[in-house]
Amino acid sequence: MSKKTVLVSGGAGFIGSHVTVELAQAGYDVVIADNFSNCDETNYRGVCAILGREMPLVRMDFCDRGAVDALFAQYPFDAVIHFAAFKAVGESVAEPLKYYRNNLLSFVNILDAAREKGGLNVLFSSSATVYGETDRLPVTEASPRQEAKSPYGNTKVMCEDILRDSVKAYPGIRGIALRYFNPIGAHPSALIGELPRGVPNNLVPFITQTAIGKRECLSVFGNDYPTPDGTCLRDYIDIVDLARAHVCAVTRMCEDRMKEPYEIFNVGTGRPVSVLELVNAFEKVNGVKLNWKFAPRRPGDVTAIWADPTLAEKELGWKAERSVEDTLKAAWAWERRLAGK
Ligand code: WQD
Repeated sequence: MSKKTVLVSGGAGFIGSHVTVELAQAGYDVVIADNFSNCDETNYRGVCAILGREMPLVRMDFCDRGAVDALFAQYPFDAVIHFAAFKAVGESVAEPLKYYRNNLLSFVNILDAAREKGGLNVLFSSSATVYGETDRLPVTEASPRQEAKSPYGNTKVMCEDILRDSVKAYPGIRGIALRYFNPIGAHPSALIGELPRGVPNNLVPFITQTAIGKRECLSVFGNDYPTPDGTCLRDYIDIVDLARAHVCAVTRMCEDRMKEPYEIFNVGTGRPVSVLELVNAFEKVNGVKLNWKFAPRRPGDVTAIWADPTLAEKELGWKAERSVEDTLKAAWAWERRLAGK
């Protein structure tokens, strides 16, 4: 296969930076485009350090159609991986229009530019949030999507449909939606990782910030769920495993191995882990004592969700390989490096 060029929109962020590293190491030419509205340059500099070179970076907003057209005129993209979106569940409830405008318009601009270019391989960063609350577990790609519980989750459902309908209508556009479960961890180099702005919403960065002393105490939201230990169950997937799933999906598209012009894959481990199990594993593998307490349930949380990942294994040739313990060690190493320790 001749060298292919991949656009990573939002490529300076947590997932985009890890995907950029894996793509480049797999032999792809990668262009990062980001407006840095939700991150600083830490991960971009980390990507360049890991790869040993300055990676092509375009500072732009995908809501600016002119900027998107200029980007597509500058590079001969074979594929785009679209991460550039707002992703804070709670904020999306308070500011729905900010989320609908940013998350939908940015993707429509990319797809419209792809249409004008005569086609493109499009990989969309979707989320298990589209499955909502279900007691039919594990979820497969055929599991029904549920009414989104937040505008953020609704933009994921809507963007999947926008991609599906664009593939149907415009020749040459092909699409894969990857439905992530819970991405956690950091690159083994500790040069890139999760960089939440302000107080973390997500569990693992709150754990590591509590352990490093940035947060006073971790609240475990609810211990009265109908689960073995009373806390919620999730499918925590290592960020490097997740990134490698993107390489497999892009390669499937670039090598014309898709079976349908629009495909969906769950990207998870298939292993449910509870909040308490994660807290205990973090303390054990890192030899730290975490200050935590039980707190009331968090509105909007589902009791349990985890993936049936067999389709991705069969069709993408991808399977999660890293253990939760390895991931939590990497998460802790990253937090300690951020603190200069
Ligand atoms: C996991 C579990 C919390 C923080 C969300 C989005 C999803 C994706 C990943 C963007 C839950 C509990 C958390 C804390 C806690 N987002 N928790 N104390 O909610 O499963 O998924 O993030 O791509 O789309 O929906 O992830 O890490 O916030 O929570 O007890 O301080 O940890 O109640 O049970 P979630 P999370």
